[in-house]
Amino acid sequence: MKRVHDMLGAMFRSGMLVLIIILMAMEAQAGKLPKDEVDALHEIAKELGKKDWVFSVDPCSNQSSWETPKLPDRPLYNNTVICNCSFPGDVCHVVILFLKGQDLPGVLPPSLAKLPYLRFIDLTRNYLNGTIPREWASLKLESLCLNANRLSGRIPDYLGNITTLTYLNLETNLFSGPVPPELGKLFNLERLILSANNLTGPLPRALTSLTKLAELRISSNNFTGRIPDIFQSWKQLQKLEIQASGFQGPIPPSISSLNNLIELMLRSCRISGPIPDYLSELPQLRIIDLSFNRFGGTISNLTSIAKMEYLYLTNNSLNGPIPGWIKITDGKSPIDLSYNNFSMDPEQSACRETLNLFKSSFGGKNLQLSGCRDPNPCTKDRYSLAINCGGGKTTIGNIDYEEDYDQGGAAKYVPGTNNWEVSSTGQFWDAKPSSDDYIAHNKSVLRMKDSALYTAARVSPLSLTYYVRCLGNGNYTAKLHFAEIVFRDNSSFYSLGRRLFDVYIQGKRRLKDFDIESAAKGVDKEYIHEFKEVTVSNKTLEIQFYWTSKGTTAVPKRATYGPLISAISVKSEFKPPNDRQKKIFIVVGAVGLVLLLVLMILGAIWWKGCLWDRISREEELRGLDLKTGIFTLRQIKAATNNFDAANKLGEGGFGSVYKGILLDGTTIAVKQLSSRSRQGNREFVNEIGMISGLQHPNVVRLYGCCAEGNQLLLVYEYMENNSLAHALFGTGEVQLMLDWPKRLRICIGIAKGLAFLHDESALKIVHRDIKTANVLLDKDINPKISDFGLARLDEEENTHISTRVAGTIGYMAPEYALWGYLTNKADVYSFGVVALEIVAGKNNMKFRPNENYVCLLDWALVLQQKGNLMELVDTKLGSQFNKEEAMRIIKVALLCTNPSPALRPTMSTVVSMIEGHTAVHEVSGEPSFHGDDMRFKSFRDYDQVILQSSETHSIPLLDSIV
Ligand SMILES: *[C@@H]1O[C@H](CO)[C@@H](O)[C@H](O)[C@H]1NC(C)=O
Ligand SMILES: *[C@@H]1O[C@H](CO)[C@@H](O)[C@H](O)[C@H]1NC(C)=O
Ligand SMILES: *[C@@H]1O[C@H](CO)[C@@H](O)[C@H](O)[C@H]1NC(C)=O
Ligand SMILES: *[C@@H]1O[C@H](CO)[C@@H](O)[C@H](O)[C@H]1NC(C)=O
Repeated sequence: MKRVHDMLGAMFRSGMLVLIIILMAMEAQAGKLPKDEVDALHEIAKELGKKDWVFSVDPCSNQSSWETPKLPDRPLYNNTVICNCSFPGDVCHVVILFLKGQDLPGVLPPSLAKLPYLRFIDLTRNYLNGTIPREWASLKLESLCLNANRLSGRIPDYLGNITTLTYLNLETNLFSGPVPPELGKLFNLERLILSANNLTGPLPRALTSLTKLAELRISSNNFTGRIPDIFQSWKQLQKLEIQASGFQGPIPPSISSLNNLIELMLRSCRISGPIPDYLSELPQLRIIDLSFNRFGGTISNLTSIAKMEYLYLTNNSLNGPIPGWIKITDGKSPIDLSYNNFSMDPEQSACRETLNLFKSSFGGKNLQLSGCRDPNPCTKDRYSLAINCGGGKTTIGNIDYEEDYDQGGAAKYVPGTNNWEVSSTGQFWDAKPSSDDYIAHNKSVLRMKDSALYTAARVSPLSLTYYVRCLGNGNYTAKLHFAEIVFRDNSSFYSLGRRLFDVYIQGKRRLKDFDIESAAKGVDKEYIHEFKEVTVSNKTLEIQFYWTSKGTTAVPKRATYGPLISAISVKSEFKPPNDRQKKIFIVVGAVGLVLLLVLMILGAIWWKGCLWDRISREEELRGLDLKTGIFTLRQIKAATNNFDAANKLGEGGFGSVYKGILLDGTTIAVKQLSSRSRQGNREFVNEIGMISGLQHPNVVRLYGCCAEGNQLLLVYEYMENNSLAHALFGTGEVQLMLDWPKRLRICIGIAKGLAFLHDESALKIVHRDIKTANVLLDKDINPKISDFGLARLDEEENTHISTRVAGTIGYMAPEYALWGYLTNKADVYSFGVVALEIVAGKNNMKFRPNENYVCLLDWALVLQQKGNLMELVDTKLGSQFNKEEAMRIIKVALLCTNPSPALRPTMSTVVSMIEGHTAVHEVSGEPSFHGDDMRFKSFRDYDQVILQSSETHSIPLLDSIV
């Protein structure tokens, strides 16, 4: 992808060079803007509805009020007027006008024509209406970008008079009618972007004279007829997107002459016949999306398709064998062959996460997904299912919505544990991929009933399939819960988004060009579509969501599109044969909650005499919404085979942990607290109180508890890969290979989990015992923070002086260890230690290369002093790691372990720093408690260090880096 961007960037750079020269010229002197241009700016402001230009300052003499720097909270905002003052006699002229992301409410200003030297206009993301004024035809513009506005009417033919244009972008507007042939006069044009409008008719043949064209995007329009065969003169074309443009197949032969083509998007173009061989021979082609067409035939001849970086062929009728090169490609490029008719190779062993073969073959082992894993066999039929898509486990009324957290990916199949699976494919174009792309979160507080279902939703750039197995045959009612939580409906560019997608149930299209916002009559409102008589005949139900490329993709920001589904529930329309004993999770109602607490408190009083600090305990639990299930001892005994030693996972400080399998197949981990210890009892209550209400992908889930007889049991989700400590420091078979990307992801995950505990959860929690042993890893090596036995609520005053300090040596922050001074910055410190351990692959406490060093952290400080930090990186990684990322983590770790809590960043800043969104603020060197002379020689010296620091060191605010 990067390569593509580089190449596309190259041609733009020539234009940028001019720009930079102009900028430099402008820097050199402070001239004056002639009065007629100042007057023009007054008129322009009025026409645009722009109120904040400060006319008391000459726009050319002082840029400060005319060029607003980037605002961190408004990344799309850009407010720039630039003059060129290199004209004879110190005269200046406005040459650049960038007013982006400002929600300007007016029209495109005709008065712009009174700035005859204007070369670059960018009005992206405003709320402008009307059309392009006739007056502009006289301008000598090089670049005109009007993306994401409300412009309507026809594209005016006089645009063809601005022959200096190299870049024209009218994307995401309401232009209609045909493309005027006059655009063919723009012989300098390199990039023409008309996507996401309502354009009709054919493309005029006159466009063939645009011989410099390198990029043409006309997706999501209402053009008619065949894809025009006018490519032979566009020899420079690198990027061609005509998906869902309205045009239909066949692929015109002239495409074969596009030797510079890098990207070809022909999704949803109703093309049939074989994929032409020449496509695989185009020397530069790296990205192909031919999804949602009717291509048939085999792909065996497309040998050099193997070089593709992205290959999407989903939903065609391709047949023949799946070629061998699929198995040998390096495994990084996403390939999606799902929903085709390939013949299944019985020896098919291609096992890669980025290859989607869901329903790629007809019949046979239909469900062989990444080839990696067969689905669990059905042990028992079920008759209902509810999923909170993209969100956590939730109970609404008497329906338990299962969690669906997996982050998704470009060609990913997520095998579920409860006999349902998600297959998600596609790549969000024009944006750097990020882990959050495939789950959307609400932008405003949701006030609808059952908002828990709507705060997170799964989105997909191409197709998303929920595949439910083991359903009893018969008719079902399926409910799909939707809410548009991304777009807004105010007078802002956030309201310009149009999301359209298709829904298929059991392979039949049930909703076409479905638009949540219009169905729900607004944003942030739920819309539940009910489908009756959905027939399940071979125990499977398939619900698919397709983005056929209609609607907008750049609002509110790039790469915002695709089906969005909040929740799914299905229920049989008949009475299940044995409707007994199915529900394992019984939700604790208010009464149950009170009962449980009373029980606990009584128990505690019994153990601890009357000293139980009942009031503070109640205070700690205030506002807590217990969502924990209660298990019976019998259930747990059955699950763990009566606490069979063979199922023992480990021995904690306060008891043993067992693996178990519930009747419904869910694997659980059961922590058996030693009931003899007061500590155990206290921990039990604490843990339930702390985490029962919490849901976050990086916090371990508590399923429930059991207090029966003398047993105190906590039931958690099971973590396949044990703890991070095991993975990093274990020996032999125990040790997982943690490559660099995994380590980075683990670091980010822990940081996010902590940021959640500190700032984002309903309760503000200090964990107090962050260490590698308390970070568990699930089957996908996602880290989850566990063991809340020592956790504390972060009190309002934000500090807490403890008389009894608890935690683990080697991870405990000095101010807490020594003075019992507790804030969430103590967790930040521990996180810093953990981050160092992750990078170094060494245990902080056990690392002592010689007696000069106390621990890993100590060594790191010395290396920092010597400017040698890279020595820290685990030698097991060899050179297989990203230096910049490793450096970033080490620096963040050192910031976090600053002896002074005030100097440590908050966890949310840490997340932003490790993800590279925020620059890592260097620890200032002088005077330094990290200096060699002041380096503490043992933990006893900590206090001295801190005292010195508070006396001699003024504390720079870390906020400056946010
Ligand atoms: C504003 O946008 C222009 C062009 O898109 C860009 O070159 C410039 O750096 C931006 N300025 C700021 C302050 O973001
Ligand atoms: C532009 O929108 C405003 C309201 O926002 C409306 O009053 C005006 O008539 C519209 N103008 C055109 C040309 O559509
Ligand atoms: C565009 O150019 C043509 C011919 O050069 C001229 O006749 C016409 O008036 C121009 N249109 C506008 C709107 O300036
Ligand atoms: C697009 O244009 C057609 C008529 O050509 C009209 O029926 C339709 O409503 C328009 N769509 C939008 C989104 O404006």
